[in-house]
Amino acid sequence: MTTVIDGKAAAAALRADLALKVADLKRDHGLTPGLAVVLVGEDPASQVYVRNKAKQTVEVGMESIEHKLPADTQEADLLALIDTLNADDTVHGILVQLPLPSHINEFKVINAVSHDKDVDGFHLVNVGRLNTDGGGVVPCTPLGCLMMLKEHHGDLSGMNAVIVGRSNIVGKPMAALLLQANCTVTIAHSRTKDLESICREADILVAAVGRPRMVPGSWVKPGATVIDVGINRIEEDGKNRLVGDVDYDSAAAVAGAITPVPGGVGPMTIACLLHNTVQQAKRLKGIE
Ligand code: GUN
Repeated sequence: MTTVIDGKAAAAALRADLALKVADLKRDHGLTPGLAVVLVGEDPASQVYVRNKAKQTVEVGMESIEHKLPADTQEADLLALIDTLNADDTVHGILVQLPLPSHINEFKVINAVSHDKDVDGFHLVNVGRLNTDGGGVVPCTPLGCLMMLKEHHGDLSGMNAVIVGRSNIVGKPMAALLLQANCTVTIAHSRTKDLESICREADILVAAVGRPRMVPGSWVKPGATVIDVGINRIEEDGKNRLVGDVDYDSAAAVAGAITPVPGGVGPMTIACLLHNTVQQAKRLKGIE
């Protein structure tokens, strides 16, 4: 029998804990953490994410500041807005929703956000800290995955972790976190030879490639823990479905534990964004 790791419940528990922390910050320090989210363009998936982020920010008692800019916004204007938010004392976290329109340099924008207000953990300072002393802000999706893994396993020391996908948002920071947790880590990707055999060695298999049902159950070691980061919208049997990067039914038949899609990694990502915002607000105010 596989354990279905309930990301929705884990995220609700994390938000409940954050709501208490936010209430303490207000009462003891007169501090209401503020999260500014910037969306450029009308990408439908991004619009849904941004709406959910704003709603949950308010639900835990924080302030949500939304900036929606047209798709033809000039890079200089976006950078000017970021400067304004960097200087605004009521803003403790800044998130620029990715992807950005192709005429805007994503790298430049990510690094224009003050690293003290970066809640994505994408700024070079935070990337550097994740890979050295581990003291910076950690990207939300891999942080959520790590929390679920620790909740399920406790100590991860010595486990064989295989991550399929090498993105800056998930694959690479996930590898850094699992290495910090004393796993033996392999990052596999589209050019990896014999991906199937490598996956079958994994005690922890993280799929983050953005390809619907790419990982079948035959690639999963019996008893392994499978973390499915994929959120892919597909048409099937005339219906619109959300599926992961893992073929859930065949993988659940062999895995010891697995995250479902939806209801696994997704909800934890937003809860971790709120967690990072509280962390940055406390740091900016010098609160332990
Ligand atoms: N687009 C998809 N995932 C993310 C994320 O974690 N942060 C930001 N800023 N944009 C995203």
